[in-house]
Amino acid sequence: MGPPIIGVSKHIQHIRELVDHVAHTGLNTVISGESGVGKEVVAQNLYSRSPRLGKPFIKINCAALPEGLLESELFGYEKGAFTGAEQKRRGKFQLAHGGVLLLDEIGDMSLPLQAKLLHVLQSGEFTPLGSEKELRTDTWVIAATNHDLKQDIAEGKFREDLFYRLNIIKIHIPPLRERPEDIPPLVDFYVKEYAEQLGGENIEIPSPRVIDRMMQYGWPGNVRELQNVLKRMMVLGNCDQIVNELFANQSENIGGPAPVSDIKRPVSLSDLLDLEGENSPESESFSLKAIKRKAVDQVEREIISYVLDKTDWNRSKAAKILKISYKTLLYKISDLAITPPPGKKR
Ligand SMILES: Nc1ncnc2c1ncn2[C@@H]1O[C@H](COP(=O)(O)OP(=O)(O)OP(=O)(O)O)[C@@H](O)[C@H]1O
Ligand SMILES: [Mg+2]
Repeated sequence: MGPPIIGVSKHIQHIRELVDHVAHTGLNTVISGESGVGKEVVAQNLYSRSPRLGKPFIKINCAALPEGLLESELFGYEKGAFTGAEQKRRGKFQLAHGGVLLLDEIGDMSLPLQAKLLHVLQSGEFTPLGSEKELRTDTWVIAATNHDLKQDIAEGKFREDLFYRLNIIKIHIPPLRERPEDIPPLVDFYVKEYAEQLGGENIEIPSPRVIDRMMQYGWPGNVRELQNVLKRMMVLGNCDQIVNELFANQSENIGGPAPVSDIKRPVSLSDLLDLEGENSPESESFSLKAIKRKAVDQVEREIISYVLDKTDWNRSKAAKILKISYKTLLYKISDLAITPPPGKKR
């Protein structure tokens, strides 16, 4: 079930070791990491290396259901427990008995439900809605989250006692951009898988040069995004263009991983905007959107000028440093009206 945990980075090696150690213990585990990093893969690997393999593996997404529905899904209900409960229904804790229950996006569970979950973890018992009888469950609870639960606790959104019950073993999966060396083996694994699925003769696969560029990219959607890009490459061909587009779109996504780690020039808000005249809140044209646009343009102008300056207006070098395509850079130079120093052409 599910793929093996692919990767050669020390992070992934460590995670594979942890999985081997923890799988037979059945200790409550929290798996954390950004979206698409492989939290579910790790949970599946815990299960398939545990003595519970062959028993149910049940997953429920705590963010996808409103509180009442999540409660009845988890604990089940008796006929007539609430309007619409025409049949008795077994909850996930009953269905997962003997096996594993993966609570996905646990950070989104409401506080009252967190209290009920804590009760199950403490006593091994739960009561279906509308029932008088407590049922026993032997379920290995694995939780996954892309929240910082410690932060949620500080903000009063997550119960500390529940956190300590769940977090006996913690497995954190770093984002792909912090372990680019995992990209080649992941590409290799999924290229083989998709080649089989897609069949056909003329499937293009990314060249070593393209893979090299993929290792420079920030992957905000992590392995899931990598999978989508690979499928696109293999179906549409033209890997070079697809990888260029990744970088071009990245530069438009402010808030994404910043490609400016080696640029130490501070830009303060007051450098960017004077909130006077047409930028003042009293002005007709004032809006958050307009100000944001101006600020973004200004930041881009500053940074691009700075890098062009540093590279002596060598635009292909500058594009590389900025991790945008050459074409995007030329477009931005003209759009942002960046003027070259005397003797250089725009
Ligand atoms: N190390 C890995 N080896 C092989 N496949 C991986 C790895 N990490 C992730 N994947 C694949 O990437 C996809 C996304 O992984 P998964 O669903 O486990 O992520 P997630 O962290 O649970 O994401 P979300 O937060 O969006 O639920 C899956 O198809 C999974 O098989
Ligand atoms: Mg998931």
